[in-house]
Amino acid sequence: MDTSTIVILDFGSQYTQLIARRIREFNVFSVVLPCTAPIERIKALAPLGVILSGGPCSVYDPEAPAADPAILALGLPILGICYGLQFMTHHLGGKVESAASREYGHAEVNIIRETALFHGLPASINVWMSHGDHAAVLAPGFELTATTENAVAGIADESRKMWAVQFHPEVAHTPQGMELLRNFVLDICGAKADWTPEHFIQTTVERVRQQVGDGHAICGLSGGVDSSVAAVLVAKAIGDRLTCIFVNNGVLRKDEFAKVQKTMREQLGLNVVAVDASERFLSKLAGVTDPETKRKVIGNEFIAVFDDEAKKIFEAEAGLKEMGGEEVAWLVQGTLYPDVIESSSVHGPSHTIKSHHNVGGLPENMKLKLIEPLRDLFKDEVRRIGRDLQMPDEIIDRQPFPGPGLAVRILGEVTAERVAILQEADEIVVSEIKTAGLYKQIWQSFAVLLPVKSVGVMGDQRTYANTCAIRAVQSEDGMTADWSPIPYDVLRKISSRIVSEVRGINRVVYDITSKPPGTIEWE
Ligand code: XMP
Repeated sequence: MDTSTIVILDFGSQYTQLIARRIREFNVFSVVLPCTAPIERIKALAPLGVILSGGPCSVYDPEAPAADPAILALGLPILGICYGLQFMTHHLGGKVESAASREYGHAEVNIIRETALFHGLPASINVWMSHGDHAAVLAPGFELTATTENAVAGIADESRKMWAVQFHPEVAHTPQGMELLRNFVLDICGAKADWTPEHFIQTTVERVRQQVGDGHAICGLSGGVDSSVAAVLVAKAIGDRLTCIFVNNGVLRKDEFAKVQKTMREQLGLNVVAVDASERFLSKLAGVTDPETKRKVIGNEFIAVFDDEAKKIFEAEAGLKEMGGEEVAWLVQGTLYPDVIESSSVHGPSHTIKSHHNVGGLPENMKLKLIEPLRDLFKDEVRRIGRDLQMPDEIIDRQPFPGPGLAVRILGEVTAERVAILQEADEIVVSEIKTAGLYKQIWQSFAVLLPVKSVGVMGDQRTYANTCAIRAVQSEDGMTADWSPIPYDVLRKISSRIVSEVRGINRVVYDITSKPPGTIEWE
């Protein structure tokens, strides 16, 4: 490949894909591979440099994820981050031990040697640390380049083109992290900035065209930016051999079923089949209160509806019947990287947080083959691609909405009545946030219906009704988030409108939890 490539070996950090994303912000192509990737696979990509990610384990643990140490002898520039530093130290003859004092959160780092990696950085930088082990003895040939009060923060053996830091330059909490990564990627590795949205669109369209051949695909539209961008990309590759299916799963927002159909047909020119399966979903959700079970039920049902619809579509295709009625079917999904990283360990050993419905809920006997063109991207990158595809702002700027819809915002059992209550409250939140001009600045703003009733008074009447929580967060990519300080007058308006207009809610509270330790959705 003549595109400049950086390989990132994943040792299981929740932040690994952030490294890839930072590198793509320099318009440089990067690939995340599991740390166990064979050395031949790495060499075949002809990378200009390798980054060893962080990870949750101890490098001296016999079960610890390990890369082939031959990676350290390739002669390529290598940057170790956190566990990556410890991996290099351990395998090159130094010693890694459990630290007397763990470092977690902000730390002050003193740069004591201006290496090529630290070029242009001030002598003291604020960084994000997250480690329990530290390098107690450096490997031969390595020099200490940076320290904190408690531990080694940076090492290098520039003659062997090896650098490593104990902190995380890829997270936003390390303000100079981008400069450091730029020094590595552009200056040390000499990568060219030739990976652009146009390039992504071109290569994806080409790949999909080859994958699908003269087959047919269906796409699950949710109305959100991800599935719409995925559909437009695939339609670009295979034209009208793509049929989009939009399912009413009974937990959509108010009037969404009609609105989305219209936008997708009229504005994006997509070929859309709309299926109202709300009763089918709600009957499967009856009595289910466990969040993971809800997600699995919806994921399974979703695919079941798709299978049924796909069968109809493909059976209607004359040629396919002659081919023996085979379901030569592809299913396009707008799965993004955060859905993947939190559901399973695709590239390495990271921990499961939630089964996101595009991923964890797929039944094993699924008959459709998957195309997920956005699987390695973050939301803001998808928006960049959507803009390049000249899709309307109304779609591109939509706040994310989870696959399992309002079901994960109705705590306890999901019933048609509770869905209707939440739809009304949600509509008020969205419209007031839009009126206040906050919709685009906020990552997500929505209502959550709690399984809590409380006493109130309305007119002269006692009420005993549901509580609704308002959640509004700011985030760059959904991986971490801060609760939004929505102005009091906007909150006041939302609260008074919900209590007076939505029958069934008599109390509104505001969620002031960041992620972590909370998640954005309540389930
Ligand atoms: P959490 O709640 O895990 O959410 O902090 C992170 C982001 O992902 C969205 N989300 C989902 N998106 N299928 C999706 O397509 C899902 O099952 C799902 N669950 C959560 C959530 O709205 C937030 O933007």
